[in-house]
Amino acid sequence: MRRLLVAGCGLVAALAVTTALRAQQPPMSNPDGWQIPQTAPTDTNPVASSPQVIAKGKDLYKAKCERCHGATGVGNGPDADPEHMPNDLTDGKRAARNPDGVMYYKIWNGRKKPKMPAFKTDMAQNDVWTVIHYIKTLRK
Ligand code: HEC
Repeated sequence: MRRLLVAGCGLVAALAVTTALRAQQPPMSNPDGWQIPQTAPTDTNPVASSPQVIAKGKDLYKAKCERCHGATGVGNGPDADPEHMPNDLTDGKRAARNPDGVMYYKIWNGRKKPKMPAFKTDMAQNDVWTVIHYIKTLRK
């Protein structure tokens, strides 16, 4: 009886741990090789937009993104892979596929093929949200 009780407690503890872990990390979906939590589309940008934030986003874009995405965002930067051009960030029609939270994880986790570097080791989270405010101004 005592042994059964101990086993039972162990099971409950194990279940609690798994549930806690799951809550911490929402399940990932990876459409086209991107790693994006399923909850990402409803994530909202925690950085409020302002002219200063847009200006800072532009500086970040110039420093980190322009070499591939190009000065105007059409994807013609000098480091763009001609075989796999980066998507046109100015294409307003792609906005529906790229809510802020989805763009956040595309930038944060990157993608293997076509290669977009992951910026999680290179940028602060709020800087990623800041650059998102800027790239949205490039949309037509
Ligand atoms: C080494 C080149 C490279 C760099 C640097 C780079 N990207 Fe990308 N980016 C890509 C490629 C390649 C894709 C994927 C193109 C595709 O999906 O066909 C991409 C895709 C994206 C997308 C998704 C576009 C869409 O419509 O799905 C966003 C958003 C994006 N990049 C933002 C950024 C931002 C912001 C930075 C700088 C912090 C950055 N990228 C830096 C190459 C790059």
